[in-house]
Amino acid sequence: MEDRGAVIIAMTGKGGVGKTSLAAIMVGELVREFPGKRILAIDADPAVGLSTALGVEVETTVDDIRREFVSTVEGGDSRSALELLGDARFRLFDALVEAEGFSFLAIGRPEAAGCYCKVNSYLKDVISVLSSNFDYIVIDGEAGIEQVNRRVMEKVTHLVLVTDASRKGVQVIHTIRDVARDLVMYERAGAILNRLPASAMERGVDIGDIPVLAAIPADDALAGLDIEGSSVLELPDGSPVRAGVRRALCGLGILKEE
Ligand SMILES: Nc1ncnc2c1ncn2[C@@H]1O[C@H](COP(=O)(O)OP(=O)(O)OP(=O)(O)O)[C@@H](O)[C@H]1O
Ligand SMILES: [Mg+2]
Repeated sequence: MEDRGAVIIAMTGKGGVGKTSLAAIMVGELVREFPGKRILAIDADPAVGLSTALGVEVETTVDDIRREFVSTVEGGDSRSALELLGDARFRLFDALVEAEGFSFLAIGRPEAAGCYCKVNSYLKDVISVLSSNFDYIVIDGEAGIEQVNRRVMEKVTHLVLVTDASRKGVQVIHTIRDVARDLVMYERAGAILNRLPASAMERGVDIGDIPVLAAIPADDALAGLDIEGSSVLELPDGSPVRAGVRRALCGLGILKEE
């Protein structure tokens, strides 16, 4: 494959459909498949969760660095803005947690009530800066359309639209796909149908013109790990969720068909 910069995969969709679980499992599969590559997992959801799913401890978040930077500027630091920005970029690498086979970065939870827009626009630059330092980046997005609308996902190359069998879930991935056509420079996009009851696995789910990357059944093993707060990386080989995530990676052209 010719060098075309990082493969940036984003998990998007309605709340509670499995974005975080699938993002974590995807990171695990990429680590197994590409041990020599530089892999980064980004928790872009202020509600947090990817770190638990991957079993990593977070100390510094992107929002911590942003706030530090803003307070330095407001505090009248005499250095030029450019120097300060250089500093902030350097600090970004301090916020990366080194885990087994991958790095991890969390956007954090802004304390100021309401508005995530500042940290979202910062996150967009962070993704851009880090894309030259990694081969694969997996972003666990916030539920809904906001981060696509705010162009946080602009540089994403592979857009994964996650839904369950619900009408609402399917509506949300259509909205995201439609907005993403203008605001995301993706090469590939497709849906993962997740946590399907046996009946929907049999009959299928009509999602219109969005290609289906994988249909994944409801899996007690996954739900159990979540209840224990254990890492999804503990899912056994051959688990249906892991197999589904691998199929999705094949469908996206990231893994070769087995
Ligand atoms: N295929 C599956 N089988 C069984 N349980 C699942 C499956 N996928 C996800 N879950 C469970 O569903 C719940 C929600 O999953 P998850 O947190 O990954 O969703 P999310 O889209 O990230 O949610 P949020 O929008 O709140 O961030 C979790 O308890 C998770 O363990
Ligand atoms: Mg989540």
